[in-house]
Amino acid sequence: MREPLRLAILISGNGSNLQSIIDAIEAGRLNAKISAVISNERKAYGLVRATRHGLNTWVIAHRDYPDRDQFDATLQNYLEAVNPDYIVLAGFMRILGPGFIHAFEDRILNIHPSLLPAYKGLHTHQRALDNGEKEHGVSIHLVTAELDDGPVILQASYPIEAGDTVQDLERKGHRLEHLMYPQLLCWLGDEKLTIKGGQLFYEQALLEKPIQYRP
Ligand code: GRF
Repeated sequence: MREPLRLAILISGNGSNLQSIIDAIEAGRLNAKISAVISNERKAYGLVRATRHGLNTWVIAHRDYPDRDQFDATLQNYLEAVNPDYIVLAGFMRILGPGFIHAFEDRILNIHPSLLPAYKGLHTHQRALDNGEKEHGVSIHLVTAELDDGPVILQASYPIEAGDTVQDLERKGHRLEHLMYPQLLCWLGDEKLTIKGGQLFYEQALLEKPIQYRP
């Protein structure tokens, strides 16, 4: 059997995606080890989840740092010591600077609640509702220096129905997210999916468009 994939998971809040990864590992569906859970918010509920499962947690509170560069440098030093195979952003609400991203090129993943490239940034559900969209979704992408702009690896869509609220979309999105991150990490662990020089390869073939996730 392969060595477990080593993950560092960065959170800012509830941590339900973190929980889905923990559950997949504990159920034997994902051959991975979470080497560190890092939060920029002391009160993130995800820290409680991590501690309950005996994981190492670390708070690097951005408010303690005078600027973004010093926050990024501290995070970078810590992650260089942990040296994970992948840095998994799971509801991590800070923008990481180009220096940080360059230091971990091809190793940072993010999950975003929209069908990228549509609705980058915040409040994606409200904006999709305001625009009368009929379809919305979730994307997991490689992190590059531009916000929510790295190549999309895996995407899932769901319908927006009449009367749906932001909470309805959150619920629909989360249900998919919790399946998608463990699935994608399995592919990385099996080297079915590989990332090199900002390019994605699935079963050795260059991935020219996102994989459509079907639950
Ligand atoms: C998710 O909806 C994710 O797409 C976005 O932040 C949310 C995090 O949720 N980036 P949780 O903290 O994993 O519950």
